Amino acid sequence: MVKIVIKKKIDKFNKVINVDGDKSLSIRSLLIGSQSFGICKIKNLPKSEDIMSTISGLKKLGIKIFFKDKICFIYGNGLNGFNYKKNIIINAGNSGTFARLLLGLLIKSPYKLKIIGDKSLSRRDFNRIINPLEQFGATFIANKQKTLPLKILGSEYLRPINFFEKRGSAQCKSSVILAALNTPGKTTILAKKSRNHTELLLKHLRLPIKTFSKKKYDLIEIIGQKQFKSFNYLIPGDMSSSAFFIVLTLLSSNSKLKIKNVNINPSRAGFIKIINKMGAKVKFVNKRNNCGELIADICVVSQKNFKAINCPVEFNSNAIDEFLIIFLLASKASGTSYFKKLGELNKKESPRLKLASMILKKMGVKTKTSKDSIKIFGNPNLILNKKILINNFYKDHRIFMTSVIAALCLGGEWTIEDAESHMSSFPSFLRILRKIGYKF
Ligand code: S3P
Repeated sequence: MVKIVIKKKIDKFNKVINVDGDKSLSIRSLLIGSQSFGICKIKNLPKSEDIMSTISGLKKLGIKIFFKDKICFIYGNGLNGFNYKKNIIINAGNSGTFARLLLGLLIKSPYKLKIIGDKSLSRRDFNRIINPLEQFGATFIANKQKTLPLKILGSEYLRPINFFEKRGSAQCKSSVILAALNTPGKTTILAKKSRNHTELLLKHLRLPIKTFSKKKYDLIEIIGQKQFKSFNYLIPGDMSSSAFFIVLTLLSSNSKLKIKNVNINPSRAGFIKIINKMGAKVKFVNKRNNCGELIADICVVSQKNFKAINCPVEFNSNAIDEFLIIFLLASKASGTSYFKKLGELNKKESPRLKLASMILKKMGVKTKTSKDSIKIFGNPNLILNKKILINNFYKDHRIFMTSVIAALCLGGEWTIEDAESHMSSFPSFLRILRKIGYKF
């Protein structure tokens, strides 16, 4: 286990950076590419652990994938073109997205397939996808808690389903969409709004998928068993990774940052809406379309005053991975911020709502937490000059990166454990911090 010690705030900076490619789009382009006919070329795929788990899982299923000149080549064999063998075990590592989406593609497997994951993934709920996938006709062998390891056995006789996704989970919605690709007839999903990358990519590939946007829900219809050709795709920068550098710039002194080519899909940009409501003035410039997704450069400068927020719940699912870093901004805002209906945060790589309140307490920030909400009593004059130890028992990448940003903009002497954790989603995190001037 590598720990990092930070004793000094970051000096002022003025830089242009690129963050690693978007994790959600990377996993989707690999999985959907594996179902196409022909050779896909994917550019800017990050070599993070979650993406490497996805690639090695697909290779175990007989899909040829390799990197050449920074381009990832995927040899798709068409829908359900996996080379199924007996006793295949797929290790999803830390990636809930890969494990849950892949299961959607395995509902036709003629043999039992075992999915395993690391300690953190093995405590996360899989019932949320077992239920709908069983309705299609797949069978699962799982423990009582419905966690990994589990086995899936597919069926030749699949039937389309009507599914109501009420959590706002893009992983559940996408797992069902991918299962529908292999199923004859029309699958219908009524889904609480969440990131819509799967829908956009399938529309970009001209597959028969229709979406109807309602106020809080999206209605999605997919007609299955339509083969499609391979494609080229450029993965834009990840909003969730950008969020750390945006808050670092906002809370530092006299600094300025431009982050190039970031995916600003509105279903991912809840974070920007929330912090701009808190008084931040983060701007998108050079907006353009990239393979059906909206991308832009993000410009941010340091600011002094932030307002507390009573965060509207409709932003929750569009900012679900950014709440830890939003809480950090709330701790420097004037007034009490309130974030509610966030029970899903405790079901991530770690129980993030609980841990956030523990970390804020260590920083001397008062909080009041319930099982699904947190009140943060902000202090605009918050400056730290004590020793803080972050154990990061769950090896959660976002706990690590949020703690590093807190240390770099608030001061104090921080020891933050499990530095390796950031490799799961954002391998360039420390390299970019060095680029903008911090010497570890
Ligand atoms: C993701 C969806 C979110 C998010 C995760 C990536 C995706 O999870 O937390 O990091 O790519 O679909 P849920 O769908 O479980 O909320």
